[in-house]
Amino acid sequence: MPPDVVASGFGTSSSDALLARAEFDRLSERGRRFLGAPVAIMGGAMSWVSERTLVAAISNAGGFGVLAGGSMGPDALADEIAGTQALTDRPFGVNLITMHPLLLDLIAVCQQAGVGHIVLAGGVPSGAGVRAVKEGSRLVCFASALVLAQRMVRLGADALVIEGSEAGGHIGPVSLAVLAQEILPHVTEVPVFVAGGIGRGEAILAFLEMGAAGAQLGTRFAAARESIAHPRFKQAFIRARARDALPSVQLDPRFPVIPVRGLVNAGTQAFLQHQAAAMAHVDAGELTREQAQLSIEHFWAGRLRRAVIDGDVEHGSVMAGQSVGMVTAEQPIAEIIAELVGQACGALAARHDPAAGRHSSARH
Ligand SMILES: Cc1cc2nc3c(=O)[nH]c(=O)nc-3n(C[C@H](O)[C@H](O)[C@H](O)COP(=O)(O)O)c2cc1C
Repeated sequence: MPPDVVASGFGTSSSDALLARAEFDRLSERGRRFLGAPVAIMGGAMSWVSERTLVAAISNAGGFGVLAGGSMGPDALADEIAGTQALTDRPFGVNLITMHPLLLDLIAVCQQAGVGHIVLAGGVPSGAGVRAVKEGSRLVCFASALVLAQRMVRLGADALVIEGSEAGGHIGPVSLAVLAQEILPHVTEVPVFVAGGIGRGEAILAFLEMGAAGAQLGTRFAAARESIAHPRFKQAFIRARARDALPSVQLDPRFPVIPVRGLVNAGTQAFLQHQAAAMAHVDAGELTREQAQLSIEHFWAGRLRRAVIDGDVEHGSVMAGQSVGMVTAEQPIAEIIAELVGQACGALAARHDPAAGRHSSARH
């Protein structure tokens, strides 16, 4: 276990701290065993952000990094996995998208490289996809409702991530506060990791006590020191409050918009105008419905890269979860993980010594 994780301060006596840590480890044991990591905290895959440096940093700090492989071809993915393996000898996962035309090739690349965990995002995976993953890796699926969670387990998922609408990026309609109550008591066959809006260790502790195996965070890691995101992207995270991270708005039910949570900026305003213009063109008979729908869907193409890599946080897509309000500095990954573990352990220690808990929460 990395010393920075063990030595996170609790503001209490060292024996209390060790007991609290042992209790935290016990609560998260199923998740730690599944991930093969000392801390059951996954760094959720974030396109353009979750590349080798960040993923390796998360795994090296005791968590479990996940590469965002969704938009890569097989050669690029093989290179990214090899690059990550050069930076860490700890386990990490790869996130792939179910509808990728080369999904089976990408799965084969992961397995040739010995990747132990594959996360399939973007809907219910095909039987062929599930079988391919399970030939050599463990399969992690997303579920945004109880029926979906049960279906994923029947399909062969070895673990689930339940992601609430508080999360950054593409979201479902239901908050983690509700999903956790709906799913955790009823899905016990596989470890379930919770995601969405988590910014502090006390929240992780609460979900572990409800039966979660661990947590997945994205937003808190995106602005970390090791993140390759542009300094302006990180500054936007540091400045933003929870209320600035809003889902994309759909103007007309005829033209569905996939909800994506991100920081409101000139781009989100332009998106509204773009939808209004597309609708006006359809009403005037200048565009077919299909053409208008396509132009709405294409609006955000390339804009996440524009924000993350080019630093255009005004017109790019600054995907962020509501936990962005808890991003207050560009911290090293090991410090973030130690802080999360310290907060959870501080809350546990406070049950025996309330003064210690007050001291611990005042620190962060
Ligand atoms: C900038 C950004 C990009 C993301 N990209 C992806 C992605 O490509 N694939 C995916 O499955 N999830 C993606 N996510 C979701 C994260 O993996 C994670 O589940 C989510 O961030 C957790 O909620 P939180 O942001 O409140 O911590 C993204 C999130 C952010 C903030």
